[in-house]
Amino acid sequence: MGKFVWNKELETGIEEIDNQHRELIKRIESLDLAIYGGKAKVELVMMIEYLESYVNEHFDAEESLMMKINYPDISRHISEHKSFRELFARIKREYMEKGANNYLAMELDREVRKWFENHLLVTDTAYASYLREHPIQTGG
Ligand SMILES: [Fe+2]
Repeated sequence: MGKFVWNKELETGIEEIDNQHRELIKRIESLDLAIYGGKAKVELVMMIEYLESYVNEHFDAEESLMMKINYPDISRHISEHKSFRELFARIKREYMEKGANNYLAMELDREVRKWFENHLLVTDTAYASYLREHPIQTGG
């Protein structure tokens, strides 16, 4: 569980994006704790509501930032976003059909932790370090 803490490598320096990453990490931690504490269903609903805005606002913010800096690996990044959007849509559909249950909470927990390890720690830290080396030109 201690793995899900803010990681300096993730820092983009863009406040909106860094805050969205911090928020996701906090939510993963809460879902984890809720599952151990027998409150999985409530937290599952909150996580689904949260991810709804995460896959829209956060992904859009990242994608337009990467366009702005001409990030060379943008298409791979966008395709990872697309697969997470699809995964989320499937889980949400299951929730709409069957309601909240512990299995779905555990599945979502597993998937967001995988997402953290494979995307935030790898793909997001890659563009964050590119951004630190190629800062946005502010004119002048
Ligand atoms: Fe991303």
